[in-house]
Amino acid sequence: MTENSDQRVAFVTGASRGIGRAISERLAADGRHVVLASRSEAPLNDLKATIEANGGSASVCVVDVGDGESLAGAVETVAKERGRFDILVNNAGITRDNLILRMDDEAFDEVIRVNLRSAFVACRAAARPMMKGKFGRVVNIASTSGLVGNAGQANYAASKAGLVGLTRTLARELGSKGVTANVVAPGFIETDMTKDLPEAVLEGAKATISVKRLGRAEDIAAAVSYVTSDDAGFLTGQVITVDGGMTMA
Ligand code: NAI
Repeated sequence: MTENSDQRVAFVTGASRGIGRAISERLAADGRHVVLASRSEAPLNDLKATIEANGGSASVCVVDVGDGESLAGAVETVAKERGRFDILVNNAGITRDNLILRMDDEAFDEVIRVNLRSAFVACRAAARPMMKGKFGRVVNIASTSGLVGNAGQANYAASKAGLVGLTRTLARELGSKGVTANVVAPGFIETDMTKDLPEAVLEGAKATISVKRLGRAEDIAAAVSYVTSDDAGFLTGQVITVDGGMTMA
């Protein structure tokens, strides 16, 4: 395991699988110490071992991002223990799909809490240590659903559109402190979140994707890698849509 105090520290939520796992592996390969945050410990320990076997550095943080107090506490603890907090990737997300006529308040609130409120809480907790370090890279993982809407996803699309407003506000508030904030908005990506979609839906999606394939988690990780790099200091308040040319919004 390679660790040193000059190493930038990245905190990735929803790191246990899918896009979050790919982002974590990529940031570790970029030389970051990656704090792997998610709800269940076993897959995070497994990922930590994989990262370390590849010469990277990682630690595990078991947290439910829907619990604001625990999430803020986790961010503060990392900043205190490691003496820095450079990169925040709010990736954890859920869907509770239904047509709006059938969507109850609970399904709406839960998705907003896990997808949007968590990002607000983590950004607020990370802002101070980032400003102190005169460097910060915030990436909020939204979705093309939040940009162009998607039938059955009023709650999810609202949460993801909300991330855009949150991110742009953060970019305006913290830009002068060396902190950037951007959204990466994936299109259809092959993960557990999409694996149960009916074949017809996936084929229909593929027909609208210019590059004629579904995305891979690594496609998103590559974008996050650049946005969180030291080179990306002039890129802020942007929505980077990684969807194979599906929306071009
Ligand atoms: P996934 O369902 O495979 O993984 C989600 C991750 O978030 C898991 O690690 C899960 O444990 C974690 N998570 C969920 N609720 C949590 C909570 N309360 N506390 C802590 N961790 C929690 O999802 P996937 O596909 O990897 O998606 C990652 C992000 O990308 C999500 O924000 C999703 O909305 C977004 N996205 C995914 C797309 C896709 O096609 N897969 C398309 C557009 C956006």
